[in-house]
Amino acid sequence: EKGTYPHYMLKEVDEQPGVIRKIISEYQDANNELKIDEDILKAMNEADRLYIVACGTSYHAGLVGKQFIEQWAKVPVEVHVASEFSYNMPLLSEKPLFVFISQSGETADSRSVLVQVKEMGHKALTITNVQGSTLSREADYTLLLHAGPEIAVASTKAYTAQLAVLSILSAVTAKSKGIELGFDFLQELAIAANAIETLCDDKEEMEKIAREFLSTTRNAFFIGRAVDYYVGLEGSLKLKEISYIQAEGFAGGELKHGTIALIENGTPVIALATQAHVNLSIRGNVQEVAARGANPCIISMEGLQTEEDRYVLPAVHETLAPLVAVIPLQLIAYYAALHRDCDVDKPRNLAKSVTVE
Ligand code: M6R
Repeated sequence: EKGTYPHYMLKEVDEQPGVIRKIISEYQDANNELKIDEDILKAMNEADRLYIVACGTSYHAGLVGKQFIEQWAKVPVEVHVASEFSYNMPLLSEKPLFVFISQSGETADSRSVLVQVKEMGHKALTITNVQGSTLSREADYTLLLHAGPEIAVASTKAYTAQLAVLSILSAVTAKSKGIELGFDFLQELAIAANAIETLCDDKEEMEKIAREFLSTTRNAFFIGRAVDYYVGLEGSLKLKEISYIQAEGFAGGELKHGTIALIENGTPVIALATQAHVNLSIRGNVQEVAARGANPCIISMEGLQTEEDRYVLPAVHETLAPLVAVIPLQLIAYYAALHRDCDVDKPRNLAKSVTVE
């Protein structure tokens, strides 16, 4: 039930700090050490490459998950959109492990790939919110999201839960290989949960941003570099899905290769700056669009901010920044939809679970 909340989406956004904390406790053993099933760890260690397959928001979580797995566990990862996979199958490595990410565990596009790769004799792990779902039953292994039922069509808490579970899987796999992360992962994940809570308490500011940048616009752009690009893709999906504003996410460096032609006077450009190594270059992209009349809204992370930034996120470990940076984008999309009188929880033409290919 949504209780005192006007919409499930807002309730589910607010549940995110609790979901991250629940995931931490679900994946801890009696000694407070992180744990993953031995079978899954074995499969992770035997694989020479992971193939993440998913749709929509879960695909965007996969893009971020690739960074965790490659940076920490040192396993190469490819991320694929399920609906493209069957007829566009990449040349597979010798020992592939397939990872299906699906909140519902019922997405037909993902299931059809699962059936296909199982027939080929490959192993599959499903990361899902629904125990006993089709994708969970038909895969060899399952990791649960523990996010509780997600009712709103726009996925919010499942996305952050997917990132948290993928980060735990990566950290535990790294440890099993004797790879040192060089920081206290559990502590950093707990800090990220606190940062999400701080952001959820700042809704008035998010509403103001939505009013300032999105109330009358026809379109909006999200730009970022490195992992911020992937978070921008998720922010743009959220915005288009519930507010019907035409929104696109772009890699900052790609602007000059075409997209910048779309910038007009007043075009909102939401730029993410949470990554130190690309901070200067993304700010260069902001200058480029601003010089062509865009209305930039820079969301940066504490420690990287400048005077021109519209919102500064509390500092968290850089690799975990996506868990935190997505929160304002979810809330901005929510308020933009509200301001336009859209049906936030049940956007037009969409179903919560897409059970047809
Ligand atoms: O249940 P799944 O995670 O497999 O669903 C995948 C997509 O249909 C889903 O993430 C969709 O993109 C959301 N409505 C986005 O908010």
